[in-house]
Amino acid sequence: MQDNSSLIAQSAVTTRYVVMPHQANPNGTAFGGAILSWIDVVASMAAQRYCRRPVATVQIDSVSFLTPIEIGDHVILKASVNYTGNTSLEVGVIVFREDPLTGERQKATRAYLTFVAFDENSKPMQVKKIEPQTPDELRRFEQAKKRVALRKQNRIERGV
Ligand SMILES: CC(C)(COP(=O)(O)OP(=O)(O)OC[C@H]1O[C@@H](n2cnc3c(N)ncnc32)[C@H](O)[C@@H]1OP(=O)(O)O)[C@@H](O)C(=O)NCCC(=O)NCCS
Repeated sequence: MQDNSSLIAQSAVTTRYVVMPHQANPNGTAFGGAILSWIDVVASMAAQRYCRRPVATVQIDSVSFLTPIEIGDHVILKASVNYTGNTSLEVGVIVFREDPLTGERQKATRAYLTFVAFDENSKPMQVKKIEPQTPDELRRFEQAKKRVALRKQNRIERGV
């Protein structure tokens, strides 16, 4: 059957994990580093599904944790490509915590990650230009465009 959805939709990834005791911090709630690791994994899968090339994380924007996540909670992550540059892609990830006993769900964090696609010599290579179609895809694209410009400016100012 023909899939008329955009490559953004086709490459999007939604997954869920359960917080195990070894992923907790000394306060008994989820360790932020464990959540960050899941964010990086799910975002890299969306980036790779989009460009079908090896990718590496170049940058993760600042991440705020909005609510504590308890051991046993489910963590739901949704990742999709927002923007493509020449060799880089921005992926947005939204994270929810869900109490599996009640189904109560809260937004836990949102993150934006930049990936670069590599050729067979591990050099950055051009990625397919993004073609946002739906109102949500267009909104995310326009917002990402501004963040990409800000990141470039920030790197110039910091000399990195
Ligand atoms: C990714 C890497 C090859 C980029 O090298 P580079 O010399 O800066 O290459 P370029 O200047 O050609 O930049 C490539 C793209 O990355 C983007 N980029 C580079 N540094 C960036 C940064 N700090 N933040 C956001 N984007 C960045 C550039 O804007 C460019 O995007 P574009 O082609 O869409 O315009 C290099 O930084 C690298 O290998 N980093 C390690 C990545 C890695 O191993 N990650 C895993 C975790 S350690």
